[in-house]
Amino acid sequence: MLVTVLGAGAGGGLPQWNCGCRNCRDARDGRLARMSQSSVAVSTDGRDWVVLNASPDIRDQIGGCPALYPQGLRGSPIRAVVLTNADVDHVAGLLTLREKTGFALFATAGVLAVLRDNPVFGVLDPALVGRHAITLDTAFVPAAGLTVTPFAVPGKVALYLEDGAGVDTEAMGEQTVGLCIATDRARLYYVPGCATVPDWLVARLADGDLLLFDGTVWDDAEMVATGTGTKTGARMGHVAMQGPAGSLARLAPLTGCRKVFVHLNNTNPALQPDGPERRQVAAAGWTIGQDGMEFRL
Ligand code: MLT
Ligand code: MN
Ligand code: ZN
Repeated sequence: MLVTVLGAGAGGGLPQWNCGCRNCRDARDGRLARMSQSSVAVSTDGRDWVVLNASPDIRDQIGGCPALYPQGLRGSPIRAVVLTNADVDHVAGLLTLREKTGFALFATAGVLAVLRDNPVFGVLDPALVGRHAITLDTAFVPAAGLTVTPFAVPGKVALYLEDGAGVDTEAMGEQTVGLCIATDRARLYYVPGCATVPDWLVARLADGDLLLFDGTVWDDAEMVATGTGTKTGARMGHVAMQGPAGSLARLAPLTGCRKVFVHLNNTNPALQPDGPERRQVAAAGWTIGQDGMEFRL
C-alpha cells in the first residue's frame, strides 16, 4: 500500500490566515514547514488513488503530487473520495473536484445528508460522481485491492451543525468515523478526529502497520493559554496528546505499528522541532506528520 499525506494540518492549516502565533510566524518566515489541510491519499499500485477527505487545499495538493496528475487530456487517477466527517476541512475540497470528471464519493448516510442539504455540493454532477452510503463496521472497496472499514469514534457533529447548548462532543455514530484501510499485505488506520481514546479503540487499532491519528492539540487548553482561542481540544472533539488521558499515554500499548500525528493545529507546540513537547512525542514513538510524507506498507 502506498500512503501519501497530502495535508498534515488541521482546519486552517499552517500558517492560518489570521493567526500570528509563534508557529504561524515561524511558518511564514520559513523556520517551520507549512502544512495544508487534512487529507491523505492511498493506492495499491500508484495508478489508482483513493483520497481520504477532500480538504480546501486539494487543488494545490494535487498540483504538488505527480501521482495525482491527469494521465491524458482529461481525467484523474483519483477513483474515489472517502470522508470521515462533514467538517469544512474535510468536505470543502469537493467543490474543487467539480470539473466533469467522475469519481465515487463514500461517506456515512449522516454525512451524505449534510452534503445533500447544502445545495452548493450539487456542483458535483450526479451523473459522474456517485454518492455511496457506507455503513459502520461494514467493509467496502473504493478501488481494486483496497478494503475500507469505517468505524465510529468519539466525536461531534461539524462546527456549523452545532445547535448551541448541549452538543455531545463524544458522541458515537455516523458523524465522526475512523477508517481501517487494508490490502492483503498491510493495514492502515486513519483517525484524524477523535475526542477520547477508550480501551476498545486501543484494542481495535492494535493490528495496524501504520496509524495516522488526531494530533490537533498538544494540551487540551493550549488555545486558551496562548490567547489564540477560547475552546479546549475536548470542546472541539479532539483528544490532546499530553496527559494521562492523552493520545501519547493511551496509545502507548500500540508498539507494533508506526504512529504518526496528522490533523495538527497551528497552535500545537509539538510542531516546534527543538521543543520539549516534540522530544516527548518522539520518546513515545510518534512522528509529527508533514505534507508530502510517503509510506510504503
Ligand atoms: C475540527 O476539526 O474541529 C474542525 O475542522 C474545526 C473547523 O471546522 O474549523
Ligand atoms: Mn478538522
Ligand atoms: Zn497560529
